[in-house]
This record gives sequence, structure tokens and C-alpha cells, in this order.
Amino acid sequence: METKGINYYEKVLDIRRVIDEARVQDSDEALNICDLSTVERMFQLWQQNMPRVKPFYAVKCNDDPLILQTLAKLGAGFDCASKNEMKQVLDLDVEPERIIFANPCRPISHLEYAKKNQVLKCAVDNEFEIYKLHKHFPNSNLIVRFKSEAKKAQCPLGDKFGCDADIDASALMLLAKSLNLTVTGISFHVGSGCMESQAYERAIRKAKNLFKFGELLGYDMNLLDIGGGFPGSNDEQFEKIAESINKAVQRYFPDERIKIISEPGRFFVAAAYTLVCKIHAKREVRDEAGKLDTVMYYLNDGVYGLFNCVLYDHQQVTAQHYLNDDSSLPTFKSLIWGPSCDALDKISENVSLPNLNRGDILGFPNMGAYTVPIASAFNGFPLARTLYFKAK
Ligand SMILES: Cc1ncc(COP(=O)(O)O)c(C=O)c1O
Repeated sequence: METKGINYYEKVLDIRRVIDEARVQDSDEALNICDLSTVERMFQLWQQNMPRVKPFYAVKCNDDPLILQTLAKLGAGFDCASKNEMKQVLDLDVEPERIIFANPCRPISHLEYAKKNQVLKCAVDNEFEIYKLHKHFPNSNLIVRFKSEAKKAQCPLGDKFGCDADIDASALMLLAKSLNLTVTGISFHVGSGCMESQAYERAIRKAKNLFKFGELLGYDMNLLDIGGGFPGSNDEQFEKIAESINKAVQRYFPDERIKIISEPGRFFVAAAYTLVCKIHAKREVRDEAGKLDTVMYYLNDGVYGLFNCVLYDHQQVTAQHYLNDDSSLPTFKSLIWGPSCDALDKISENVSLPNLNRGDILGFPNMGAYTVPIASAFNGFPLARTLYFKAK
């Protein structure tokens, strides 16, 4: 069945054609192109590579209703951080069992919402949250989150969340036991944009010890949550990570009754979006001898819009020149700015581009992760419009 608001294409989405048909050159608005079939492809890739691990998509990464709808239909679970994220997912008729309230530090009203809607799985990493759960949601299922970071990650999370695995995690479980709370699982997050494929193996091994401790306390430990961190635009790296996870799961959690979930965000959505921008102004910077040093371009989206990922997600974005990709053209050192009157609004520097003109179009692939929910219309520049596509 065709869904309203989605444009259907045969086989391959032709970005150039979309640019032409959407008349991007005649508009001062940037265009965000979302290919929902990429989300479906990534879901299949996940299932082929890690059939035992059920993905609970991290809503914070991109909460576009069509993305959530697509993943809900595919049968994904969801990692929610707040009342509003839970509501968005529950409104799609997703059962509360398919949600984990993964934010280990939440306001009481959000916890009460989880209770009212029977979202039982709640991450915890400190004693104050355990007392909060005891008072406000005593029949929740506690998932103890410990810290186990990758050696290198695009956005490490360990400074903010995760208790010490060797001492604190067991103390928290003992506290939960003394309060008659129920611990059912263990979780960790190796860091968003994990660049070390062995990081998961290390963490799964630690999780095994905590499972054993929980079982000693008499808990029915039935959930391992391996968090997020999976790359969104590098299938080969993902496959390497998956192989290492599968081996670790087989070694430390061979019992199929233990449910294994994960919280991937960028994995599903990064490659699904291409942002198309127009150059509306240009400046040439010359040295004292008058020699051209840098060509500066000003685009109709910037770090306060969808390129906020440059600031917050430490993304390095890649510009593709769509309307003239003649590779024999000489290239120049270039710097790309966003549209606002703020010098922080720098998208990319030291890039090599041919000498472009005002009105030329640049496309940026892999723009689906940590972009859409954060963008603002700062300085009066409107948000890019989004067009949705799907293969027939
Ligand atoms: C608790 C939690 N789960 C999952 C994710 C998603 O991570 P990623 O997009 O790297 O898969 C994040 C992101 O920071 C997170 O904080």
C-alpha cells in the first residue's frame, strides 16, 4: 500500500533527478532527501548479521514520524529517553514490551508516564535512581547500566552514564534487592560511533559476571542490552562488529532464553538522508601577493540547521558537487559556511572543490543521524524541507 507523502521510485533513487524535479536551483530552501528504503535495507542487514540481537531503535537519533513508523512496521523495538519519546512510539501502537526507558536519570513525571503505560524496562546506574524507582515505579524491571567504553568513539558517553562494573554494579543490585525491586538485565553503551570492533566483546564479558551476580541474588536475569554505537554508513565495519558480538554472545550467553537487545541509532538512519544545499554567496580569500588561497562558499543550511551534527555529533560531512562533477576540473582549497551571521557556523574547511558558482548545488550524503531533531531556524533561516522516497 502506498503511504501519503511518500514518493515512489523504481529500483534506484536518482538524486540528480530529484534535484531537478524539486527545482532546488530556483529555491532558497535547502532540501533534505529521505530514502525510507535505506532504513529497510539496514534493518535487513542487521537481521542477516545479528539474528539473535533485537534492535531497539534509539529515538533520539532521528524522531521523524515516518522513520519511526517504518521501523515500527519492521518489528523493531525502541529506546526512549523521555515521556514524549515514549508517547511518540506508543501512539504508533507499539506494545510497551517493545520499549526500553534507557535514560538512567529521568524526571519523576516521565517515570510516572512509563508506569501508567507499563513500560517496565528501566535503565539505572546510580543509587538515587534506584530509590526513585522504589518510590514511583516499584514494579519496574531494572536494567543496570555499567560503563565500558570503546578505545575510540565519535561521541563517548561514559563521562555521563554507566556505573563502575567491578564494584558499583553489584552494590546497586544489592540495594535493589534490599528494597524488593526486580533486576532483570544488564546494559552498556560503548560510545556512539564506536571505532573499535572489540569493544563489545569486552563489555559482554563483563556483563556475564554481572549476570552471575544477579542470579546469585535470586534474580531471573533475562535481558542483555548491548547499547548502540554501530556505524551508519560503513557496512564492512558493521559486519566486523557483528561477527565479534556473535562470537561473544555464543561464548558468554549461549542460553537462547536470555533475550539480547541493542539500542542502535545512527545505524538505521545515517545513510537514509542526503541534504541538498545551494550556494547563495561566495568569497575569494587571497594572500598578500594576490594569489588565491581559499574559496569560501555560503550555503542555505548550516550548523544551526541540519549541519548541527558538525557541532554536536562531531561529524565530518562530505560535499558532493551535483551539477558539474567533471573530475578533470582544477580544484581549490575551499571552506563552506552556513547562512547565519555567526562565525561558528562553519560546515567544513580545507575541502577540495572545483571553482563553483553562486547557484550551484552541493549534496551531502549520510545526513540522517543526530540532525533532524536538533535543527533550529536560528537567525531567520528556515529549516530544510524534507521529501520522502521509497522503492516501489
Ligand atoms: C542510551 C543510548 N542508547 C543508544 C544511543 C544510540 O547510539 P548510536 O546512535 O551510536 O547507535 C545513544 C546515543 O547517544 C544513547 O545515549
